[in-house]
Amino acid sequence: MIMLTAIPTVRFARGRMRIIDQTLLPSRYEIAELGDLDSVCDAIARLRVRGAPAIGVAGAYGLLVAIEEQWGRALPVFDSAIGDDGAPRTATVTPPAGIGYAELKSTLDRAAEKIVATRPTAVNLAWAVNRMRPCWQGPRDVGAVCHALLAEADAILREDLDMGRAMTTHGAALLGRDDRVLTHCNTGGLCSGGIGTALGVVFAAASQGKHIQVFADETRPLLQGARLTAWECRERGIPVTVLVDGASASLLASGDVSCVMVGADRIARNGDTANKVGTLGLAISARQFGVPFYVVAPSSTIDASLRDGSAIPVEHRAHHEVTHVAGVAHAPADVGAYNPAFDVTPASFISAIVTERGVQRPPYDLGGGA
Ligand code: MRU
Repeated sequence: MIMLTAIPTVRFARGRMRIIDQTLLPSRYEIAELGDLDSVCDAIARLRVRGAPAIGVAGAYGLLVAIEEQWGRALPVFDSAIGDDGAPRTATVTPPAGIGYAELKSTLDRAAEKIVATRPTAVNLAWAVNRMRPCWQGPRDVGAVCHALLAEADAILREDLDMGRAMTTHGAALLGRDDRVLTHCNTGGLCSGGIGTALGVVFAAASQGKHIQVFADETRPLLQGARLTAWECRERGIPVTVLVDGASASLLASGDVSCVMVGADRIARNGDTANKVGTLGLAISARQFGVPFYVVAPSSTIDASLRDGSAIPVEHRAHHEVTHVAGVAHAPADVGAYNPAFDVTPASFISAIVTERGVQRPPYDLGGGA
């Protein structure tokens, strides 16, 4: 039986943020330690840590790193209450001596702006950083601010792990004993605090004894499907087949797929969903060939301020990601490249949206969460 255990995608210990460096997988599994704000922002921007829920957690802990960088060199300020396996441990907070509230506030204000600017589409990042703001905008005492910051960042990670367990259990009910699931990008433990969203549903179903097979789109240009989804499936003993993105339509036409399951980076109130570029094409093909298309995401991915998906900001990334593979050019020099990292799938293509609160069917009204 497969175990639905958390992997330590993002953690915080003894003054440093620790991440699984996702740019190195699948060839190397390495934990990177981040001790300054620039490294945190670079890690988020370069997808060393990635996936909507995971960058939310990283954004929250990133604020703690900004404090450690300034005042925690001799003695770490923070040690988290959550261990690598997600189990509770003893937290410590040692507020820096000899600094004033104004200094602390200005460091945190600057760090918050810088972190939120790293990636615009996944709403979880801004959501988590904004959720941290009352920690320093309320109390004006350095010790109280530090205690509040660690408690809130740990709460964001803890809730992410709890939401992951709940949403993957709800989602697993949608899968039959021998289903074959087509997925896109990476939505396993690597995209979250450590359990995952859409791929987490497959892991939850497998932990119930179901025999699920995964088809993983490679997910050009950064290959999160081929590198990360395939790695996670192998680690957990789930049969996985990788395909080029262009083969997904014919796979859906073949009738060999029971459903498509994807994650989300931002969901508008009406259910329109931004996710990794290529998701929209999958949804259109799934509709054409009568295959159910499910979105799985925590409620922290719902942006209740947006009526529909037309105002979701779509991140456009560097051209070399398209024209080069592993640093080697495979397109003529100086050609243009179109590289949106995400696309928006209209709600009308989505058979159900699964969150920690349950399975919602259309018409969607996610104003108060799903
Ligand atoms: O650019 P990435 O790798 O951060 O994009 C991630 C995705 O699009 C995932 O599918 C999404 O975050 C879902 S994880 C809940």
